Amino acid sequence: MLNGKAIVLIISGGIAAYKSLDLIRRLKERGARVIPVMTDGAREFVTPLAVGALSAENVFTDLFDREAEHDVGHIRLARDHDLILIAPATANLLAKMVHGIADDLATAVLLATNKPVLAAPAMNPKMWQNPATLRNVAKLEERGIRFVGPASGEMAEKGEAGIGRMSEPLEIVAATEALFRDQAMRHAGLPLAGKHVLITSGPTHEPIDPVRYIANRSSGKQGHALARAAFDAGARVTLVSGPVELPDPANVETVHVETAAEMLKAVEANLPADIAIMAAAVADWRVAAEGSQKIKKDGSGQPPALALVENPDILATIGHHESLRPRLLIGFAAETQNLIDNARAKLDRKNADWIIANDVSPETGIMGGDANTIRLVSKSGVEDWPEMNKSDVARRIIERAAQEMSDDAAS
Ligand code: C5P
Repeated sequence: MLNGKAIVLIISGGIAAYKSLDLIRRLKERGARVIPVMTDGAREFVTPLAVGALSAENVFTDLFDREAEHDVGHIRLARDHDLILIAPATANLLAKMVHGIADDLATAVLLATNKPVLAAPAMNPKMWQNPATLRNVAKLEERGIRFVGPASGEMAEKGEAGIGRMSEPLEIVAATEALFRDQAMRHAGLPLAGKHVLITSGPTHEPIDPVRYIANRSSGKQGHALARAAFDAGARVTLVSGPVELPDPANVETVHVETAAEMLKAVEANLPADIAIMAAAVADWRVAAEGSQKIKKDGSGQPPALALVENPDILATIGHHESLRPRLLIGFAAETQNLIDNARAKLDRKNADWIIANDVSPETGIMGGDANTIRLVSKSGVEDWPEMNKSDVARRIIERAAQEMSDDAAS
């Protein structure tokens, strides 16, 4: 299970750090590569020399290491490996993870990663039992971070015992193997295993001047829910997101953009894809000449004239792509009138396979809300779906898409 896996091992500062030396040995015995990252605290307990000798790898310690960072070191550490393992994970490190603090290399890697994270906490029992720590662990579990231990027993401090000891290296190895096994099983039998799904989400912001922009009310909830559902169906997922207030979905490669032009570039850079779902509410127009300075009132009482130009249509661009058009291309149509006629027209004009049409008149509460009532418009007809929350809509769209792909493969 571990053979050929590349594991970033984050060692944070606790007495249990000495056990990490044995952990490195055990992981390597099973064929894994172990790339160590040490916090300042960890270096108080074990030396980089010992860690480097056992891992036979460069030991990373500094966020601002010029050698490693010229190549965006912490991003590569976060992304180019199969797992981030934290052993020991101190209460402090867990608290920083909850809040997204990235003030050293270890926390920056943890904030930037899209890989599975497994943590082996180690701390004094009072610290472990503290409601702050328990709440932090619960929040991290909600985000998909896995834990092994802590175990109970004697502490390093005299007379202290209870739950807080780091699990033994072989238990951590077993938990690591279990994580990879679960991952392999999830992906093997799932309907979109081996498929790449590309999704756009959220609004775009089109600058007027350095402080103002044109935007719309899209929250990104539907697009982000689609990304999660596609991952759950076993796909490799790329999400190109405009500015939203949502966290990046776990295990999804998320590319952040602001404008329609940037969104198009990011979408094209991430083709080919088997399925593309363009759920973003892309601004139709941008300001022709973006002001380099804040536009001021000139005292005349006349508002400034803002000339607009049309943005590229991302869905239509990839719909008409000669070689890279995804096999299944799905667009959305948010309308306030003539829903079906407009959706049919879009299906043709943009060369999409399906248009998911929804009425976003203010009284529906769909824009920004949690529920959605949609109609699936394809060349073969229109399907009405009952009102559902956006996660259920996402799951159903993904199920239908997977079905379509397997019908396609069979025919
Ligand atoms: O034409 P309209 O904006 O209503 O079309 C909506 C569909 O087209 C959505 O799927 C949206 O993501 C996509 N679109 C796009 N690029 C644009 C405008 C819309 O990809 N510039």
